Amino acid sequence: MSIIEIIKNRHSYRGTYKDDKVPKEDLVTIMEAGLAAPSGCNMQTTSLICVDDPDVLSKIRTVIDPPIAETAPAMICVLTQRINAYRDKCFAVQDYSAAIENMLLAIEELGYSSCWYEGHITDDDRIGDKIAGLLNVPEGYDLVCVLPVGIAEDEITVPKKKSFDERAWFNSFNRNVLENHRGNGT
Ligand SMILES: Cc1cc2nc3c(=O)[nH]c(=O)nc-3n(C[C@H](O)[C@H](O)[C@H](O)COP(=O)(O)O)c2cc1C
Repeated sequence: MSIIEIIKNRHSYRGTYKDDKVPKEDLVTIMEAGLAAPSGCNMQTTSLICVDDPDVLSKIRTVIDPPIAETAPAMICVLTQRINAYRDKCFAVQDYSAAIENMLLAIEELGYSSCWYEGHITDDDRIGDKIAGLLNVPEGYDLVCVLPVGIAEDEITVPKKKSFDERAWFNSFNRNVLENHRGNGT
């Protein structure tokens, strides 16, 4: 698949995973893709912990309530350091977002599935902090996202997305197209 096909094929997977373990070299390839992402002023504020030990995975699952990705054989935890790139400008969110997208694309290319779980683990119940505690993450790092990795057992559902012309234009913002869409109730 070309990179464009990989980008278009990638979708969030929230179903059951097959039992197959993910080989270490594939997990390293995925993490390397994440670390190869650009970062503001090359501050490299993103770090990763991949969990593929079944005992550690089960400990993590005890703190994820409601549960997600219960059958995934591996999970990549994304850590960020809120370091300013210059003056008061911190690009840590952009840095880890670029790293996550790179990893999602690598996961797709290697034939695995995943989902960007950030809302679930950074909500008020602070599941991410509990996972960080279990993984001995030191002060100064926030665990902001988990990416399960494994082979999908079920069909992947493709969500409905807005059309190209509702969100992208050439040379000027196109209010007319947007109003047409609203008029059509689309
Ligand atoms: C910042 C961010 C946070 C997300 N958090 C969650 C989450 O907590 N739980 C979840 O099921 N999906 C989460 N997602 C996945 C989105 O729901 C998903 O990308 C979106 O519905 C579009 O579907 P697609 O990934 O198949 O294109 C998150 C995505 C992003 C970018």
